[in-house]
Amino acid sequence: MGLVSVKEILADAKARSYAVGAFNLNNMEILQAIIRAAEAERSPVILQASQGGIKYAGLEYITAMAKAAAEMATVPVALNLDHGTSFEQVVRCIRHGFSAVMIDGSHYPFEENVAITKRVVEVAHPVGVSVEGELGRIGGTEDDIHVDEKDALLADPDEVVSFVEQTQVDCLAVAIGTAHGVYRGTPKLDFERLSKINSLIDLPLVLHGASGVSDEDIQKAIARGICKINIDTELRQAFSEAVRKKLAEDPEEIDPRKILGPARDAMQEVVVRKMRLFGSSQKA
Ligand code: G3H
Ligand code: ZN
Repeated sequence: MGLVSVKEILADAKARSYAVGAFNLNNMEILQAIIRAAEAERSPVILQASQGGIKYAGLEYITAMAKAAAEMATVPVALNLDHGTSFEQVVRCIRHGFSAVMIDGSHYPFEENVAITKRVVEVAHPVGVSVEGELGRIGGTEDDIHVDEKDALLADPDEVVSFVEQTQVDCLAVAIGTAHGVYRGTPKLDFERLSKINSLIDLPLVLHGASGVSDEDIQKAIARGICKINIDTELRQAFSEAVRKKLAEDPEEIDPRKILGPARDAMQEVVVRKMRLFGSSQKA
């Protein structure tokens, strides 16, 4: 089939009020777990490369693996740059074949966020690559990106219309109280804020930091316009738990396939569960 844009995938999600999972890939086993789940569930899916993922696997491997997976897949697959840090990085990803990019200008003042996001849209749209922007600042840690709780900011509904009109982004990540990484307490999502934002713009909204958020809150978020849900931490947990279990049961095992195989299965189960929860199963 080949890679499709996130815009294309989210158009159907918005029209039919469901959300599509965006899962971070760092190696072949994670990619296969995601794709196998998508095929089994007949679900569209978004693959994402984070800063750490690119550093670990390399842009060439990430792109080649994702392209191969999309070509073999019988469901829509997108490849998105997650939390893009610069214009130059976005251009590199587009050149390598990403079908979507996120430019995260959320650490800049509003006008600078608008300026960099607009610049990205200007190069991405002519070549059919969709763009995700971010408003507010999501707390927590993902790879090299760390935002202290005190620096986390919720998205300001007053900025939303102006941001979308000026930048022409295809989807918008909004900080509503979630955080990256493992939660210490129970996350408290600001649903009122989300409803308000959703009433102001006609655009698919994105929820970051969704690992560890209760099923009930995820469903409430989808009902209030969330169409893309990012999951990384829960895959890491499934992977590492399975590897630890295997090695505890069989400390003499030296075959990487026998160690990584159960981890791949465990991650697939997580992805299947999320697809059913998000309502994307049987939508492809
Ligand atoms: O961009 C990636 C996601 O927002 C990761 O969130 O750490 O809750 O899985 P997570
Ligand atoms: Zn994120």
